[in-house]
Amino acid sequence: MENFKRVFGNKDLGRAIDVGTRRGEFLFRMKEYAGSYEKLIGIDINVDELNNLKSKEEHNIKFQFMNAYNLEYPDRYFDAVSISNTLHHLNDMGSVLQEMKRVLKVGGYFIINEMFHDCCDNSRNTHGMLHILESEIDTELGKIHNRTFEREEIIRVASSLGLNSLEITEYNETLEYDMKIEKKLGRLDDMLLKAVNSDKYEYFCQSAERIRCNYNNYGIKRCTQLLVIGKK
Ligand SMILES: C[S@@+](CC[C@H](N)C(=O)[O-])C[C@H]1O[C@@H](n2cnc3c(N)ncnc32)[C@H](O)[C@@H]1O
Repeated sequence: MENFKRVFGNKDLGRAIDVGTRRGEFLFRMKEYAGSYEKLIGIDINVDELNNLKSKEEHNIKFQFMNAYNLEYPDRYFDAVSISNTLHHLNDMGSVLQEMKRVLKVGGYFIINEMFHDCCDNSRNTHGMLHILESEIDTELGKIHNRTFEREEIIRVASSLGLNSLEITEYNETLEYDMKIEKKLGRLDDMLLKAVNSDKYEYFCQSAERIRCNYNNYGIKRCTQLLVIGKK
């Protein structure tokens, strides 16, 4: 987390939008660590999560139902745009990234935060493997949930946006997040049950065995996050 704090501590985010905010995980972190901000807006298409966020709104923290493919704001409206761990939930991330760029002022911060699964720490690999299985099961059930990226893929995506002054930082999550991931692993059988009627069920069970084996040998920690910030 030290890297995260260092990168955000010197930034004024001004008016910012967090795309795919879910429970505001990333938005609240920016709120806590940014040097300053004027207003933070989180958008998502998940109505249930947004309803739960209503009580967390403040005069300068707002959450809205909005589709990332069609941000209902004028061109160059925001001083900062962010997207965290959402790129792998999109079937056309290029369109969303261009839409975010559209609403960003020239000179504004474009922030991409994504975990990656090719880290060299065995305990984080357990999470990487778990997430790959989760995304494969979700895909089998018809949801848009792709594998997480490799570190270099995220950098390539960010580099393709033609941003200036790219800052690339890695950081690991707090123990609290690691414990959440361990709880998720405890629900692995429920995850498998969702796919019990699938032709791929046997394959999913074998993947689950490999994940359990990795866990028994190395434990589990959340995948490392890559934070890329550039200026439009
Ligand atoms: C894994 S969550 C990311 C949560 C949070 N940003 C974080 O960093 O932990 C992905 C979120 O993207 C949202 N999402 C997916 N497609 C979307 C779209 N087209 N427009 C807005 N939000 C979308 C989902 O509803 C979900 O809440």
